[in-house]
Amino acid sequence: MTQPRFITLEGGEGAGKSTQARLLAKRLEGLGYEVVLTREPGGSPGAEAIRQLLVTGETDRWTARTEALLHFAAREDHLARTIRPALARGAWVISDRFVDSTFAYQGIAQGLGEAAIKTLSALVIGEDMPALTLILDLPVDLGLSRAHRRAGADNSAEDRYERMDTTFHQTLRNAFLSIAHTEPQRCVVIDAASDTDDVARQIWHSVTSRLVT
Ligand SMILES: Nc1ncnc2c1ncn2[C@@H]1O[C@H](COP(=O)(O)OP(=O)(O)O)[C@@H](O)[C@H]1O
Ligand SMILES: [Mg+2]
Repeated sequence: MTQPRFITLEGGEGAGKSTQARLLAKRLEGLGYEVVLTREPGGSPGAEAIRQLLVTGETDRWTARTEALLHFAAREDHLARTIRPALARGAWVISDRFVDSTFAYQGIAQGLGEAAIKTLSALVIGEDMPALTLILDLPVDLGLSRAHRRAGADNSAEDRYERMDTTFHQTLRNAFLSIAHTEPQRCVVIDAASDTDDVARQIWHSVTSRLVT
């Protein structure tokens, strides 16, 4: 059965996913709910170790299939150790990226194809798909310029995907929009080009109208 309290945020680099995931978690906590704020790749000790293999190093260090398998290996651990236990005790789970990123990055932009991602999703995720996926959409140049400013500020080496070329990021944007189009009952497209407060308002509207009763 679909878990009603599992929310994911998706979209390209610099779309504001991490910012908005934090704001949404705070807002739900303010209503007295337990919220587990988590991220992919990562979200459990094992998955965070796998993350380092994915977000650092040369852009071409993996084949698309190896990369997808690493993401799904991390996701298996994340679901087993963090997400399923949290949902089982009634907490909200907010994940900064989830399977739609693997679909867009490895399935479409890196060319692995939809079928492989669907097979791995059936094996690893099964029925535990998010109840709501917020797809933060904005022009590629704006997202990358935000991401570069942030990289300057936090001096992170976790920029392997950001370093992929502009065509790659444009393909990603289209892939996320196509997921939203295919699964309108799960996905909402959020206009992420506007200011932080406005994006938060759009997200809260989607969450309250779809999930909070
Ligand atoms: N709506 C917004 N307008 C302008 N800057 C933003 C907005 N949302 C986030 N930022 C800034 O842009 C950068 C990237 O945001 P972040 O939340 O880290 O994006 P993501 O997690 O999607 O890569 C951060 O420095 C953040 O403070
Ligand atoms: Mg982020």
